Amino acid sequence: MYKSEQLAQHLRRLIENGSWPVHTRLPSLREQAEISGFSLMTVMNAYQDLEAQGLIYSKEKSGYFVAENAKTQIPQSATIVSLNPKIEINSLVFKYLKSIQSKDIVPFGSAFPDHHLLTPSKLLQVVSQMARDQKSYDQTTNLPPGNLALRKIIAQRYCMQGIPTDADDIVITSGGLDALNLSLQALTRPGDYILLQQTTFYGAWQAAERLGLKVITLPEHAKYGFDLEAFEQVIQHYPIKVCWFMLNAQNPIGFTVSDEIKYKIAKLLHEHKIYLIEDDVYEELFYGMHKPLSMKYFDRGNLVLHCSSFSKTLGAGFRVGWVYAGKYSEQIQHLQLMSTISANALIQNALVEFVSSHHYEKHLRLLRRRLEKNKKRFAQYLKQHLGQCCEIYNFPSGYFLWIKLPLHISSLELYQKLIIKHISLAPSPLFNVLETNQHYIRLNCSFEWTSRIQDALDQFIQSILNFP
Ligand SMILES: Cc1ncc(COP(=O)(O)O)c(C=O)c1O
Repeated sequence: MYKSEQLAQHLRRLIENGSWPVHTRLPSLREQAEISGFSLMTVMNAYQDLEAQGLIYSKEKSGYFVAENAKTQIPQSATIVSLNPKIEINSLVFKYLKSIQSKDIVPFGSAFPDHHLLTPSKLLQVVSQMARDQKSYDQTTNLPPGNLALRKIIAQRYCMQGIPTDADDIVITSGGLDALNLSLQALTRPGDYILLQQTTFYGAWQAAERLGLKVITLPEHAKYGFDLEAFEQVIQHYPIKVCWFMLNAQNPIGFTVSDEIKYKIAKLLHEHKIYLIEDDVYEELFYGMHKPLSMKYFDRGNLVLHCSSFSKTLGAGFRVGWVYAGKYSEQIQHLQLMSTISANALIQNALVEFVSSHHYEKHLRLLRRRLEKNKKRFAQYLKQHLGQCCEIYNFPSGYFLWIKLPLHISSLELYQKLIIKHISLAPSPLFNVLETNQHYIRLNCSFEWTSRIQDALDQFIQSILNFP
């Protein structure tokens, strides 16, 4: 065990046994180094790990504090490992997505942050300037693998995270989902086994269904989010070709897996020569001071295809994402040229200008602050009114709350009751095909607090309290 893991384990115990109550300030890095005898770097790694697990949070210039949800456990799936031979989730997802499209719906079920928080005015300015220039529409320089300047900027951002990257490793795609789908298609053949998290973004289930893959699922670990032991067992017993995991601000539950576990996953992937498609589209929406590391950071043999996009930070309407494809770049480009071809040339050009300017980082900082504030308000209100009957899982990133309803309430029925009142929410059957896990909902809390939002939340609360 690394020294930082030892220290993190010790501090975790202090938090969990109540020796350090909520909001207690932790010793500064320097103080902790003196107390423990470990180096500053070891202490910093341990604190960052605890922060990624949501046990502590950081405040600029004030240090680290014990988080409110430090004792939050992740809901655990009922089964250890399950094989899902027949997946039929596509028609449910289709009906669901159609039902929440109308503009009069209060979109608590939406996967996208409130659009008022995205598309900063500087970006709109850049887009409108470019829209008037003929050159911006030149598709030839934006065809697969995508705009070179944009790929260089993305590659630089990986390098800044300690991941050596060349522009040629990156393929620009039509959003994150395109990146994920193309990667899965490149790495699998029908009938192959893939491994998903038990409760996961429905796009993964849909892709598996479309490509005729056999799906094995891993349960969530109540404490760490990811069940390393179950993972090790599965890869020993099944010929898994590819894993598709989301380990940062996981959708729908919200947890972030620690660096320690990510390191161990990478080691096992390497030993068993298994590919990982990493869905990291929420990577920029962390709350603390440090962006969580991706699995790409721990990748040993070019086994990780890291997928992300600008959808959650600048707007899903731009439809620009990317995959760190490495040696799979050419294969993915082949598939692109047979399907989505390329992301929009004008938007790729506009993103080059905006993302390379200081405006992008400034926008990200503001976005994170607003999302954190809005989610906190939702969480407080819901805890006050539903705290007695529901469990509310609140992790320090993104904009979702994952809520366990009382067992007599089916999340699908609740969704059906509320959609008639023009309020949407995302029921757990969209994310989990096991019948035992149908009492959860995902609530989008990115919205500014207005009377319309409060009114919709009140109706949501009443529907639960008065559910027959
Ligand atoms: C977990 C997850 N992955 C991927 C996507 C797809 O992102 P994009 O809009 O960039 O295609 C979404 C969108 O909601 C998502 O929630």
